[in-house]
Amino acid sequence: KKVVLAYSGGVDTSVCIPYLKTEWGVEEVITLAADLGQGDELEPIRKKALDSGASESLVIDATAGFIKDYAFPAIQANALYENRYPLSTALARPLIAKLLVEAAEKYGADAVAHGCTGKGNDQVRFDVSIAALNPNLKVLAPAREWGMSREETIAYGEKFGIPAPVKKSSPYSIDRNLLGRSIEAGPLEDPWTEPLEEIYALTKAIADTPNEPEYVEIGFEKGLPTHLNGEALDSVALITRLNELAGNHGVGRIDMLENRLVGIKSREIYEAPALLVLIQAHRDLESLTLTADVTHYKRGIEETYSQLVYNGLWYSPLKGALDAFVQQTQERVSGTVRIKLFKGNANIVGRQSANSLYSPDLATYGAEDKFDHKAAEGFIYVWGLPTRVWSQQNRL
Ligand code: ARG
Ligand code: SIN
Repeated sequence: KKVVLAYSGGVDTSVCIPYLKTEWGVEEVITLAADLGQGDELEPIRKKALDSGASESLVIDATAGFIKDYAFPAIQANALYENRYPLSTALARPLIAKLLVEAAEKYGADAVAHGCTGKGNDQVRFDVSIAALNPNLKVLAPAREWGMSREETIAYGEKFGIPAPVKKSSPYSIDRNLLGRSIEAGPLEDPWTEPLEEIYALTKAIADTPNEPEYVEIGFEKGLPTHLNGEALDSVALITRLNELAGNHGVGRIDMLENRLVGIKSREIYEAPALLVLIQAHRDLESLTLTADVTHYKRGIEETYSQLVYNGLWYSPLKGALDAFVQQTQERVSGTVRIKLFKGNANIVGRQSANSLYSPDLATYGAEDKFDHKAAEGFIYVWGLPTRVWSQQNRL
């Protein structure tokens, strides 16, 4: 039996290698590490997999595709789970699932494997995405079944030459990619406890941010960010630069208690400076370029879309249908949004578009006013008619 294992270089996924071979009789473990811009050195990770017993160790640079095919559609959908979490971790899972399935098909593997526990969302996202892409492929999740504590896992690994973490291992569980960081566990498990500054890596503490505001301009074409301060940038460079700019002003932190799909409430801290700014800017540009009814209807679509992505249904028929709706709306969402970064805030202070539906002649309170005030009276008579009739019948 041959298995392709999603590999991060951490203790848990490393232990999965001897565990699959020893306990489950897998003959060959091929590991797959995806570069999603998490900033890790991939070469040591590649070697560590081989040292841990992998027969082959794949490293795939997937950052550009991650941003273009997963992050950007989510920006067009203004996707925020429970109105706050921009899905920075969740968006990576369907991509990793796709890489696993492709590798399994290429190497003729019988199954794919991941190191997720049985308590999280990520296991659902992997299992369901893999099933959607290749329903004949088996999914193995050793960490869901082995029942070992952290200490037992480390001890098990040491028997197979997997070194225990050198420094006293961090109490936090951290997931990281170009879009941001997700931090949970340790002291964060008490929802009343304020996070220590030490957990943050992409955003400055307000006390350390510049005392002068900074303006950034983001240009969009058909709902996709293309320019930063007037300069055309590819998607990865744009996110990288905006992470630095916004993070420097302490923008992009979220502290939330969220509802996992498996029924557990969990406290998670996120840092996603660029992604949060881009969603905010994109939504603002939509308010300038979309009609009121499309804007309002899209809000409902966005909420469902966010839930689907959070809940592991990226590759599902409903998600595909919502994608088609969102794409249709983005045709005219082009223009520039001006944002002021200051002391943890990103405030939109200007927007412009060649497709603007904003009409100064209609909006002005000045002498140039072209709005027919008299027409309002008849409109209000008809608009209020049902309410008037109802009131005549039901007035106390
Ligand atoms: N709660 C987030 C999600 O479901 C992040 C999960 C991974 N977080 C972590 N700290 N390992 O998408
Ligand atoms: C895990 O349990 O594997 C991480 C957290 C999550 O998936 O929500």
